[in-house]
Amino acid sequence: MDNKQIVITQFGGPEVLAIQSSVIPEPLEGEVLVKVAFASINPIDVKTRAGLGWAAAQNKDKLPWVPGYDIAGQVIKVGSGVTTLAEGMNVAGFIGFPIRGGGYSQYLSLPEKELSIVPDSVTLEAAAALPLAGQTAAQALSKAQIKEGERVLILAGAGGVGHIALQIALAAKAEVYTTCSEANLDYLATLGAHAINYQFAPVSQRLEAVDVLIDLVGGEAALDALKCLNDHARVVSVPTLSAELICEKAKMLGFEATGMLVDPNPEQLDTMLYMVSVGLLKVEIQHIYSMDHICQAHEQMETGHTRGKILLDMQN
Ligand SMILES: NC(=O)c1ccc[n+]([C@@H]2O[C@H](COP(=O)([O-])OP(=O)(O)OC[C@H]3O[C@@H](n4cnc5c(N)ncnc54)[C@H](OP(=O)(O)O)[C@@H]3O)[C@@H](O)[C@H]2O)c1
Repeated sequence: MDNKQIVITQFGGPEVLAIQSSVIPEPLEGEVLVKVAFASINPIDVKTRAGLGWAAAQNKDKLPWVPGYDIAGQVIKVGSGVTTLAEGMNVAGFIGFPIRGGGYSQYLSLPEKELSIVPDSVTLEAAAALPLAGQTAAQALSKAQIKEGERVLILAGAGGVGHIALQIALAAKAEVYTTCSEANLDYLATLGAHAINYQFAPVSQRLEAVDVLIDLVGGEAALDALKCLNDHARVVSVPTLSAELICEKAKMLGFEATGMLVDPNPEQLDTMLYMVSVGLLKVEIQHIYSMDHICQAHEQMETGHTRGKILLDMQN
């Protein structure tokens, strides 16, 4: 049996992605072998493929390198000393972040402590979509310490992080405003947010008295959104490229501001999977690509207009 993996052969456009075969790794002590059903694609995968950011810098001498941090699948073998997982269980994880990667693989041996059990009522598709984006959403909101009744503005509510963030903020009983293009207005309104079309006019012309800004866009859009804020508002700027600039400007205006780097936390993923299982959280999946269509999947991610998440079907 082969272990097909998608690798970055050299830094560049989507065409540098290739499928390679390797051996199926034996689980070491404390590890389980997972047959990966789905891996998800995140903006960082595309950035790293292009040779940008710290994951690219750290792995530049290790090409071909397997990207991917989100997986869901089934445990098919258990190493010695494993206590919580057994053969046949469905698991998901935010794995190998940020340096090791490896998610775009058909088989992975992983430490059991990196994995969460997927409840029966949660699909492996939803479980694979959740880890990196879901935990970024949860951690951004936790940094902002949102409270019931506060007015929260989330830029890019239709994206992988945004659609989860706005549902968590709504569950915390915040009044949630979000920006999106016209195509996503109905979708985000259905989730319960006040959706504002950024293509029509800058958000600063449409909204005021915001207590918390969750910036998932950066740059000009984030600078404009600072004009919507109350005195003493809190800002969390998530895109690493412009976070420093946005935070500096926000602090000059008297706001509390911070950037962030998501931190994998299996217990937090357990909670999010539970929220999905009881219907408190809905994961949106725009499309599932076969491994052969990895270039199209990266091209879609690069448009910057994916609704929810896109996945790779690792067994087809
Ligand atoms: N610091 C960290 O640890 C960390 C972790 C995760 C992600 N990130 C970063 O956070 C950002 C968001 O990640 P993501 O996974 O959610 O990305 P994503 O899924 O690619 O976001 C796509 C969404 O962005 C929306 N969008 C694009 N331009 C917009 C604009 N000007 N105003 C409002 N919405 C806009 C699109 O909606 P429309 O189609 O309606 O325009 C689309 O639904 C990325 O920059 C990512 O690299 C950082």
